[in-house]
Amino acid sequence: MTALVRYGFSAPVQSLARYGFLDGSHRLFDYGCGRGDDVRGLTENGLSASGWDPYFAPDNTISSADIVNLGFVINVIEDFDERVEALTRAWSLAERVLVVSVMLENQNDPRGQRFRDGVMTLRGTFQKYFTQSGIKTFLEQVLDEEPIPVAPGVLYLFRDKDMEQRFLMDRYRSKHNRLRTPSTQQQERPKRQRRDRVAERYETYREPLEHLWAQWLALGRKPDKSEVEDLLTLTEGFGSAPKALRFLERRNGLAEIERAASRRVDDLEVYFALNQFERRRPYKHLERGLQRDIKSFFGDCRSAQASARELLFTIADTQTIEQACQHAAERGGPFL
Ligand SMILES: C[S@@+](CC[C@H](N)C(=O)[O-])C[C@H]1O[C@@H](n2cnc3c(N)ncnc32)[C@H](O)[C@@H]1O
Repeated sequence: MTALVRYGFSAPVQSLARYGFLDGSHRLFDYGCGRGDDVRGLTENGLSASGWDPYFAPDNTISSADIVNLGFVINVIEDFDERVEALTRAWSLAERVLVVSVMLENQNDPRGQRFRDGVMTLRGTFQKYFTQSGIKTFLEQVLDEEPIPVAPGVLYLFRDKDMEQRFLMDRYRSKHNRLRTPSTQQQERPKRQRRDRVAERYETYREPLEHLWAQWLALGRKPDKSEVEDLLTLTEGFGSAPKALRFLERRNGLAEIERAASRRVDDLEVYFALNQFERRRPYKHLERGLQRDIKSFFGDCRSAQASARELLFTIADTQTIEQACQHAAERGGPFL
């Protein structure tokens, strides 16, 4: 009875779309899928999704997936041990990330009789309303993992720590509208002929070149060979990825790239500075893309850390910094 008919995606699924997890490269399993509206909607969008529910879809297969959604399930379970069991099972199925969502306490809670640690509503359904910190603590205690709140009552737990780092990094990436570079005015004839050859070549490889340019702008640095999507086509057309990059550099100029690089340095500094405030355990290693970012923008980890520390002193007071250092010491050292 708690499973409502949905006329749109649930908040956790919307959050996944917002953060770019629904790009078709991840399989999703909806644990406690209710009437299955999220699964149906995702499948209609060409994504790989399936679900199971003890009441609505008990015969469906329970399977592991890159992303597991445990949406508004914990808060309808009366029994504490059953809550723990549902959470642990969903976590065991999550290969890369688990998304947990619960109803939060607010003034519009339906009235009902207190029952165990929740309420029995007038419709005869059980609801346990959590506070944001209450659900975070519950997840931490049961799974011994650090959940990341992404929206009210919606938290992510990453098994894939590289994905977690990338996610945290991208969260602080400023959002930019990407505009096409205005075309330049045509000048004298000989130059135009030369430019036409460049234009012809560009036309032939337009799609991979556009991808490469967009990626260069997004990273703020030259993408590494391993990061280039259309490596084969570009190598065929230009000899190598660096040569394709040089072609773009000559054609488009460096001004836009320089602006992108400086935005990216800002984003990275904010990311590293904010990391000092988190209680997160230090990562065993840095995600490869981040390693390249550090090398390209700061030279090495020490310089990145120094740069982030400088930023910290401009945004936080001494007491906050002291507390952050204490947290860092408790969890065994700072992020970098
Ligand atoms: C409020 S509905 C949410 C359904 C769906 N996830 C959504 O967001 O629309 C809660 C669902 O949890 C399911 N449920 C109850 N106990 C469960 C358990 N122990 N394990 C998994 N699902 C459970 C119920 O059958 C119900 O469909």
